Amino acid sequence: MTKIRVGVIGTGWGQLQIESFKRAKNCHVVALCDTNLVRLQDVAKAYKIDQTFSDYHKLIASNEIDLVSVASPPDSHQAMTQAAIDAGKHVLVEKPLALNMPDAIKLLESAEQKKIVHAVNFEMRFLPALAYSKELIDEQYLGQLHRVDVTMGVEQPWGERGNWLADDVRGGGILMELGSHFIDTLRWWFGDVRSVLAGRRTHFSTVKIPSFDEKTRETILLKKSVTGDDAFWAVFQFAQGGEALLNFVTGARHDPGWTISAYGSMGSLIVNSGQLLGKRDGDREMTLLPIPKRLELGDNPKDPLMWSMAKVAERMVAKINHESDLKPFPDFRDGIAVEKIIDAIRCSSDTRGWVDI
Ligand SMILES: NC(=O)c1ccc[n+]([C@@H]2O[C@H](COP(=O)([O-])OP(=O)(O)OC[C@H]3O[C@@H](n4cnc5c(N)ncnc54)[C@H](O)[C@@H]3O)[C@@H](O)[C@H]2O)c1
Repeated sequence: MTKIRVGVIGTGWGQLQIESFKRAKNCHVVALCDTNLVRLQDVAKAYKIDQTFSDYHKLIASNEIDLVSVASPPDSHQAMTQAAIDAGKHVLVEKPLALNMPDAIKLLESAEQKKIVHAVNFEMRFLPALAYSKELIDEQYLGQLHRVDVTMGVEQPWGERGNWLADDVRGGGILMELGSHFIDTLRWWFGDVRSVLAGRRTHFSTVKIPSFDEKTRETILLKKSVTGDDAFWAVFQFAQGGEALLNFVTGARHDPGWTISAYGSMGSLIVNSGQLLGKRDGDREMTLLPIPKRLELGDNPKDPLMWSMAKVAERMVAKINHESDLKPFPDFRDGIAVEKIIDAIRCSSDTRGWVDI
């Protein structure tokens, strides 16, 4: 089996990716790229990675890299991904694939033309409770879907993160950053979304973010305007029938986390804090459903998403290596499908009406 050599662009979340790739079978990170040279060197040193680049073109051009992971801010994804595909590298991209639909579709077309293996990192699918829910839903645990509720509360006003996350034009906002993962999960569980009604809001239009003042050598609070959404609600109608209600809010001042509750004609499933509860007709009460060992991710990492991302990487690498027992993973098609729903949410919010997809 060939050990696939990975180059990671962006060392924020990309830093955690190094551990995900380490955990996945048959691959290892051999090169890093970041324009923040201090961060780049710190991460390279911590993980003992020799090859470092400040220019992503150079990382992509390296003959010692088979797979490029694009983990830089969203407004850089399209150019980096296109360059990696043109160089014949396999690519894993963080969402969003691109900032607009024509660019995202062109990336898929190029990837198919070049026959490279492509993935979008919707790794939440491999969280054990969500992976097992998918199996149960496919086995008709719910019967006909009636309704899904997804709620998420985040303690801090979203814009307090300060960087691109607060900027709409740079691909920031909570809808894209967090909502996208749940939209992927709903599509994966229940199929295509037919119509959307939604509202996006920016409740905290300015925030104060800590910044180091060189003159006074003190940390001061700088006022920053927020253009990205920091809350949204959406109603989905699925093509197969059934509806979903999504409600995401930030600045909750406590951290309620997220819950997905699905109600069908024969049963209900609730995922809360990584636990899966279920009740079917005939059961006395809602109970904790034991998750099969084969779906467990092992010991607890720094971030629960690190080991689920290892699954995306491992399946991608198996495909690159032409292994016989291939298992599905989210790819550019899924990235495009989620972006279409997000575009419909934006359009519905702007026009205050239902949008068909
Ligand atoms: N899948 C997940 O669960 C998950 C979690 C967190 C972030 N993300 C995604 O990862 C991506 C990065 O997010 P983040 O939180 O790490 O952001 P970040 O701002 O903390 O880090 C991005 C890094 O990219 C570097 N960078 C910017 N432009 C660059 C360029 N042209 N070339 C090389 N490096 C460049 C920055 O210097 C920075 O170090 C986003 O797309 C985000 O949506 C995904």
